[in-house]
Amino acid sequence: LIGFRTDLPFSPLAYDEEQEGLQDRLIIKFSHVVAENTPKGLAVERFSQLVKEKSNGRIEVQVFPNGILYSDITEYDALRNGDIQMIAPAFSNLADKIPEWSVLDLPFAFRDETDVEEAFNGEIGRLLFESLEPFDMKGMAFWNNGFKQMTSNRPIRRPEDFKGQRFRIIQSKVLEAQFQALGAKGYGAPFTDVYQKLASGQVDGQENTISNIYTRRLYQVQRYMTLSNHGYLGYAVIMNKQFWEDLPPETQTIIQEALKETTAYSNQQALAINEQQWNQLQKMPLEIHKLTAEETEVWQAAMKSVYDAFAPVIGPAIMKELEDLHA
Ligand code: LMR
Repeated sequence: LIGFRTDLPFSPLAYDEEQEGLQDRLIIKFSHVVAENTPKGLAVERFSQLVKEKSNGRIEVQVFPNGILYSDITEYDALRNGDIQMIAPAFSNLADKIPEWSVLDLPFAFRDETDVEEAFNGEIGRLLFESLEPFDMKGMAFWNNGFKQMTSNRPIRRPEDFKGQRFRIIQSKVLEAQFQALGAKGYGAPFTDVYQKLASGQVDGQENTISNIYTRRLYQVQRYMTLSNHGYLGYAVIMNKQFWEDLPPETQTIIQEALKETTAYSNQQALAINEQQWNQLQKMPLEIHKLTAEETEVWQAAMKSVYDAFAPVIGPAIMKELEDLHA
């Protein structure tokens, strides 16, 4: 400590440490579009809490839910420009930009959660994350929500019941093709507009998970729901690539560990939340029909053209992995 004057009112050492601590502080803005009491909303909160604990408060993940900062359409530019550092879009949002991601939106691609997990954790997940890199995005984790169900103001059991109806979709060509195959029209709109579009009659129906249907109160503006499990809605947790690469290794480790814990917890929770909200939803004024096995087969046959159209876009490597999943 030669040269330090200990008679000063503050210790230069302590002062330096404090300055350093301040300079070291890191803020990560995480924007998403759903409610806080959904699988994604709760996962982001958990992640933020874990990062705070693991970094002793040095890293702060600021969470912006409900699309208050950006919609699912504007969040990409915001991520790219560095206005935010993390997003967790639904796969369909990505499919609109990066065709390979359409694989996760193919109708009836996954029979159950086990199939989904295998796809995320295996070669499909790896190839999809690789496809993000040229877009300045770094894939960090896959988070579950659940299987999608149909809601409408008309009962829907058979493909012909879709005829002439307009369904709100996440803007994506594969979802557009799915509704076209059913004789309906897909209408791309941000998630935050769904309620209003249904209320005003601009669209007749929509597809979503139980959790999104319940927390957005879509039962107030829809008369019928068909439990169809025809598609899967999950999320890719993404960071701005440059931002990630510039982080010191210790910080990267903290983030990775926090994400790993969050993912394990949240993927269990997603099932429980959808289950619990399914119980609530059944108390609402919504007429619910569960597709029978025969009806499901008829839907699958009607949507087969989506595979024919998108397999070439997705590419043989990923399509082969999907086939192997079912083998
Ligand atoms: C939707 O737009 O329906 C979903 O992407 C919302 C979400 O993020 O769960």
